[in-house]
Amino acid sequence: MNFSAIDPARLPELLCAMPKAELHLHIEGSLEPELMFELARRNQVRLAHADVAAVREAYAFTHLQSFLDIYYAGASVLQQPQDFYDLAWAYFERAAADHVVHAEIFFDPQTHTQRRVSMRTVVSGLHRACEDARTKWGMDAQLIMCFLRHLSEDEAFDTLEQAMPFRDQILGVGLDSSEVGHPPEKFVRVFARARQLGFHCVAHAGEEGPPAYIWSALDGLHAERIDHGVQATKDAALMQRLALEHTPLTVCPLSNIKLCVFPDLAAHNLPALLDAGLCASLHSDDPAYFGGYINENFLQTFAALPLNAGHAYQLARNSFEASFVPPAQKQAWVAQLDACFVAFGA
Ligand code: ADE
Ligand code: ZN
Repeated sequence: MNFSAIDPARLPELLCAMPKAELHLHIEGSLEPELMFELARRNQVRLAHADVAAVREAYAFTHLQSFLDIYYAGASVLQQPQDFYDLAWAYFERAAADHVVHAEIFFDPQTHTQRRVSMRTVVSGLHRACEDARTKWGMDAQLIMCFLRHLSEDEAFDTLEQAMPFRDQILGVGLDSSEVGHPPEKFVRVFARARQLGFHCVAHAGEEGPPAYIWSALDGLHAERIDHGVQATKDAALMQRLALEHTPLTVCPLSNIKLCVFPDLAAHNLPALLDAGLCASLHSDDPAYFGGYINENFLQTFAALPLNAGHAYQLARNSFEASFVPPAQKQAWVAQLDACFVAFGA
């Protein structure tokens, strides 16, 4: 592929048009304030803010926990299967417009089961939206359930148990929420059980937490992908290992800026991750809170950093390589990606 033959002026158009996989998207983090208010009315939930503008004004975060407090409060409007369906459907409409052809979406069952909203309510609504996304756009959408790491391992075991009737509708397990003080070691036994049951395993690590948490996610949890992982650049031996083992990192630049992991996009370490040969890909994390879905992450990141069409290709290709689908399906999507780049002159 001759990337230098692509007109640099057309790079933003290419970033938007290229097929891509979304592998780091918390569905609760795609709850836009407008839908939040609609669901609050539907379910007669009182919100802390008076209107949509006041909610958006509150989205000024200083670190991960300052975001999580608001994010968990927002999720309280989700009560019925239809609410979860509407949430996921709104996301799929945006994803389809961004040329997402495959999505592995996180959900946080404990945020809902703790409020006496059942696993069945959550999964049935989300799963039906996944099926409809396939029918309408041919999009392949799957669900990954995350354990909240600020809760205990026993509570994670309860969650795994509650998920068993829906085993076929859940692709894998993940680990999210407050990172610092809640290392992966806390969840070694429940991840071992999930792995035995055939779930894929991923974990947030090295978002705010130290490189040691990434080592622990790899060695203790046997995580197949690291979500964020941007702190890895502080540890040369870890960088070598991630490159050698081709462990995917799902990087979310707008999230990292909103949560003050980096001062601005120009200071983001994505170029260092790519230069070191890591399988990094770009994703949106909690787009309703962080100011942009996947294409906006691409556009703003490429505008701020010395990245070109070759990097765009690598990031999109990595997103397919990192996905949990059979090799033939990956090849088919990479062929679509190649055709897109050829159409842009490569
Ligand atoms: N849950 C939702 N977004 C998250 C993030 N960025 N880090 C950890 N847990 C999360
Ligand atoms: Zn995340």
